[in-house]
Amino acid sequence: MDFSIFALKYYILIRIGQIAAGEFPVILAPMEDVTDSPFRSICKDFGADVLITEFVASEGLIRDAWKSRMKLQFETKERPIGIQIFGANIDSMIKAAEAAQNAGPDFIDLNFGCPVRKIVMKGGGAALLQDVPKMISMAKAVVQSTRIPVTAKTRLGWDEHHLEIVDIAERLQDAGIQAISIHGRTRVQLYGGKADWTLIGEVKNNPRMKIPVFGNGDIDSGPKAGEMKERYGVDGILIGRAAVGNPWIFREVKAFLGTGSVTAPPSVTERINMVRLHLEKSLLYKGERATLFEMRKMYSGYFRGIAGFKPYRLKLILSGSLQEVDSILREIQYLSLSE
Ligand SMILES: Cc1cc2nc3c(=O)[nH]c(=O)nc-3n(C[C@H](O)[C@H](O)[C@H](O)COP(=O)(O)O)c2cc1C
Repeated sequence: MDFSIFALKYYILIRIGQIAAGEFPVILAPMEDVTDSPFRSICKDFGADVLITEFVASEGLIRDAWKSRMKLQFETKERPIGIQIFGANIDSMIKAAEAAQNAGPDFIDLNFGCPVRKIVMKGGGAALLQDVPKMISMAKAVVQSTRIPVTAKTRLGWDEHHLEIVDIAERLQDAGIQAISIHGRTRVQLYGGKADWTLIGEVKNNPRMKIPVFGNGDIDSGPKAGEMKERYGVDGILIGRAAVGNPWIFREVKAFLGTGSVTAPPSVTERINMVRLHLEKSLLYKGERATLFEMRKMYSGYFRGIAGFKPYRLKLILSGSLQEVDSILREIQYLSLSE
């Protein structure tokens, strides 16, 4: 008898509530003014398993502000997708979650980690790390008022004297949170120093934890992703800054995790074509002015490691029209062909 059929590998899917998120979800981390729908859909094409919108202000959603409403939009191909909301007031967060839910995402993500001063000063984002009972009440209230899964993204604690994430994670789970993403820094660290994954590993290895634990911080290559997966046993990872202007990171990480193979970096032509596609999508989504402005963050990523790119970066950033960008892209193409 041939038993080879039984040798088929069984994959265990990580679930966010009932939503299948892949065997080891590689997630595009939410980033303000970066992870809008055009960029998310490009990252999806390169293998991102789960997408999360940039954070949306609860107060903006309640006021039905145009800018906040725009941020709720997504394409069907972006699923599974979460809408991230932030705020300081529990009632506002309940109402904002309802508005976000009406946009039809797969889950809602609560931001308990944003370190930006103007948000923390108002009691939102990472400020909730200084008032954990309020964070837990907020999580519970949002969970109880929504029909879809609610997840949370946070940091290790407020500062090095308050590394409370192991306890916080348990309490968020008890409040009904269905997955937790942890950035391995404190609020006080902002984005400085190196992310410390030790406590993320402790959360994952806490036998009381049943929900998926996703690790985040400083992943910028396939081998780094593999190292964090093996060493800390997390259920998935989030990639933020390394994806800015570099959607290929998802292809690279997925290939490495899947087969241990290392993918070749994109050619100059591939990069230029991707910038054009990104510009096109963005133009449809937010018009020329905002596209020119927001693409400025992306160019360094798109052309990283390309010899002779430096003078073109400034030209791209200063360009005042898409036509101008187009002719600079032609110059870059010409430069690379003449090498
Ligand atoms: C420009 C920028 C914007 C960000 N905006 C958000 C946000 O809206 N919501 C959030 O939870 N985190 C936000 N973050 C944090 C990232 O999601 C991520 O946690 C952090 O960058 C660490 O991951 P990385 O080392 O892979 O970049 C932002 C980070 C950057 C650099």
